[in-house]
Order: sequence, then C-alpha cells, then structure tokens
Amino acid sequence: MPDSFFQTTPIYYVNDRPHLGTAYSTVMADAFARWHRSIGEEVFFLTGTDEHGLKIVRVAEERDKSPKEWVDEASAWFGEAWRVLEITNDDFLRTTDERHIATVQRFMQAIYDNGYIYLGEYAGWYCVSCEAYYSDAELLDGQLCPVHERAVEWLVEENYFFALSRFSDQLLDWYGANPGVVFPETRRNEALGIIKQGLEDISVTRTSFDWGIPVPWDSRHVVYVWYDALINYVTAAGYGVDDERFSRLWPTVHHLVGKDILRFHAVWWPAMCMAAGIDPPSQIVAHGWLLTGGEKMSKSRANQIDPVVLAGDVGVEPLRYHLLRDVILGNDGDFTYEGLIARYNTDLANNLGNLLQRVTTVVNSKCGGVGPLPSDASATSLAQIADEVVSDVRAAWERFAPHEAFEATWRLVHEANFALEQAEPWKMEPGPAVEAVLGDALEVLRIVAILASPALPETCTEIFFRIGLEGRPDAPGRAHLGAGELGWGHYRPSGPVIKGSPLFPRRRLDESDS
Ligand code: MSP
Repeated sequence: MPDSFFQTTPIYYVNDRPHLGTAYSTVMADAFARWHRSIGEEVFFLTGTDEHGLKIVRVAEERDKSPKEWVDEASAWFGEAWRVLEITNDDFLRTTDERHIATVQRFMQAIYDNGYIYLGEYAGWYCVSCEAYYSDAELLDGQLCPVHERAVEWLVEENYFFALSRFSDQLLDWYGANPGVVFPETRRNEALGIIKQGLEDISVTRTSFDWGIPVPWDSRHVVYVWYDALINYVTAAGYGVDDERFSRLWPTVHHLVGKDILRFHAVWWPAMCMAAGIDPPSQIVAHGWLLTGGEKMSKSRANQIDPVVLAGDVGVEPLRYHLLRDVILGNDGDFTYEGLIARYNTDLANNLGNLLQRVTTVVNSKCGGVGPLPSDASATSLAQIADEVVSDVRAAWERFAPHEAFEATWRLVHEANFALEQAEPWKMEPGPAVEAVLGDALEVLRIVAILASPALPETCTEIFFRIGLEGRPDAPGRAHLGAGELGWGHYRPSGPVIKGSPLFPRRRLDESDS
C-alpha cells in the first residue's frame, strides 16, 4: 500500500470573499498535494470553511440574512474560487456539516470525560475579527487588537474552560522529541516561547449567542469557534467513525497555516489532541503573509486582490507559478503586479514557452514532426544536469521550499535553451546530428513538464501533448523515486510533435491597465 499524505489548509472564515492571501495558502497546499501524488503517495487533501461564531453572526446581520443563509452563500464562493484556481482538494469541509457537528461533540466529550474541561467564568478583551481573547499585554496602545489594529470588546461569560495549563510539560516534551514538527524554526521557537511563558486555561464555550455547535453535556453553551474549527482536521480523517482510515491518515497530517494562527495550531491543537487521547499532528508548516504595499491583505484593511479576477487577467497558472516561485515559504512576500508580469515574461514566455516553441518548430521542419529519441545519458551533459535538478527538486519539496524546486527546474529549462543556442539545430541539415540535439531537448521538456506540474498542471499537460506524449505529466507516481519516470531516457512519443501557438505570449505591463 502506498504511503499516505494528509495535507490540510486552514478553514477560511466566510466573512468575505476569498482574496489573494487566502488563495496563496490554498495554492501552496495544492502544490504539496500534487507533488506528493506525483511521487506515488496516497494523498488526502482537505480544505473548507469556518462558519460559526460571532463574526459570522454579525456579517449576516449586516446583510439582513440568517447565519445559515449567509454561510451557504459565502462558502460557495470559496468552492468556486478554488475550482478556478485548479485546487485539487479531495474534501471540502464546512463546520456546519452534520458530520463535523457530531465529531466536535464526540471529541469534546472525550476531553471532558478525560477531566480536562471544567466550568468557570471568563472576563477579557475579545477581538471579534480574530474570534480570540487577548491579555492586556498583548494589546496595542489604545486597546487595539494586535492583528487587526481595531478596538477590542470586554466580554464576561460563564464558560467551560480547557485546562491548557496542564499540558505545558507534555508539550515541551513533545517539542523536544520532535524537533522538526513546526517549520520554519523561527515559528517553532515562537511556539516554544509561548509555552515557556506559562500557559493559561482557555475558555472554550460561549453562552452569549447560539450560532455554534451545542456542548454535548450542556446545551446552554456553544463551542468556541476556534475549538470547533481545529477539530475539522480529525472530522475529515474519520475520527470516531472510521478507525481504520483515521489511523492510516492521521499520523501523516501536514497542516499548512498562516503565521498569525500559529499558536492555535502549535500550542492549543496539540494539547487538545493529547487531552482527547490521540497523537498530536505530525507536521505544522507556517507560511508568511502576502502583503500589498507592505501590509497584510485582509478584509479589515480593504486592500484585497480578488484572485479570480487576477487569474482571469494573467492566467490561472502564471498566477499559481508566481505565488509558488516568488514567495519563500515561511517569509512574507510583497505582491506586485509588476513582479507577476516580470516572472511571467522571464520564466514562462522567454524560457519555457520559447523552449517548447523552438523545439516543436524545428522537429517539424527537420524531422517531419516525429520526435527523435534522446541521446544516451553518457553522451549529453543535459542528462547529468537533469539528474542533479531532479534530486534538487525532491530535496526542495522535502524541506518545504517549493520556490527552490521551481528555481531548480528552470535551471534545466535554461540549460536546454542554451544547448539549442550553441547547436543551432535550425541551421543544421536533417539527419542524426540534428535528431540528437532535438531528442535531448524533447527529453528535457518531458522531465520539466513532470517537475513543473504542481504549479502548471494544464500547461504541462499541453506540453506533453505537443511533444507527442500520451496522458498527463501529473499522473500519480510519475515522479516516484524508484518506479517513476524522472530518469533520463524515457521519452518515447506515441504521436506527432505539434507546433501550436505560443503557450505564453509575452505581456506588456500596461496591457491590462486600461
Ligand atoms: N478560520 C480561521 C482558521 C481556522 S483553521 C482550523 C482563520 N481564517 S482566516 O480566513 O482568517 O484565515 C485563514 C488563513 O488565511 C490563515 O492561515 C491566514 O494566515 C491566511 N491568510 C489570510 N490573509 C493572508 C494574507 N494576506 N497572506 C497570506 N495568508 C493569509 O484564521
């Protein structure tokens, strides 16, 4: 049975449409899911929407809708945006799904039965946008939320509390035993810092509104939205309903989250899992923020870019490629339209697009449209470069550096273009010499199509088609280390090499400014 790989995204609040920041998170998770499928793993890729809590009640009120009407409408925007952005999620979980409501109640009951939930009273500063309490020390001057820079509210409630403080030692032991569990290391240190500062118990139910999941043993309370949301990951893995599936998937879970929700995932969630008696997550990867003009893109700052509109302008796959290639996972990245167009022109139009165009043109003019086979690996330096690139790409994905995976892949594109410029096959007579040059370039295109497919799946499928190959470059297992096809010499066309129109016509910056 193949290894499993369970990739998650955060589940998004349905207080507004998806924006480029949330699209970034989802595209990144999608690329990991795609890469892991291509190396032959059995992938389960989960995303969804976070639909309970006060924030949603207020948004619905503003629009004169019931919370349910609102979340049905808004959740669909996410499903639609992810379809446009070619997101290959296997499941889309809504926290209003019956299956999730049942699991939250089951999971919480387990924690309660294990003695880690008790009744108390909570008074504190609450940010509705974060759906989180803050201590005085955490607030910005003027009693403002540190994330949204908005006024917080003083809330007093009878709440059930989760005894987070009792997990400090267990969490520290867990971090000690699993040094790589949070990536990047700066975020691991941040999480350790939070634990070492001393953990306080957290209030995990609400009584002031009812748009939430009823606490199973006390229906006057609904579950706090973060507690409810985190449990989505085990709902989708089959917790309590399919033990076999759960025990296969859960140990391979990879949570991709934004740095702003680190403490929920790297402190609360592992403790919740321990309290319920299951293993904490195996991997938490925290990405940075996508900024516009140096600021986080978010509803409250009204500086959002609609990813669907942007994709309609520059193309879905160029957008995906730019996000994956130019934002270093873990760091913030400043999004500019100029940066996107520059990357499009250099990597896609001038390098990859040009390579395909040249090769397919010359194969048609010199070889009658029949793709010649590549040279023996020992006869071309491209074979060795391809080998190095393939192992660099594998290593880059392993260390959560997709930008390096694509950088390495484009080194191969660049080398193939360079080899063509040196040999100038367009000036050669038909015959074995020109065939060798073109066969090698076709083999590079085949390998590149497999390696680039996590960012550019449809483009790479078109490349396969144009170089006379059947099927898709992202077919499961093609990049498998042992049984895959990333070694030199697999190019065997079954159809003609086709010269089509350029995949990526060059773009001018002012093209869509009108
Ligand atoms: N609903 C919670 C997550 C619950 S997960 C159990 C939430 N939702 S959110 O919609 O506000 O944010 C979801 C994710 O989107 C977070 O990881 C957040 O970091 C990410 N992003 C929101 N704005 C972003 C940018 N501008 N840039 C990158 N990621 C951004 O938090």
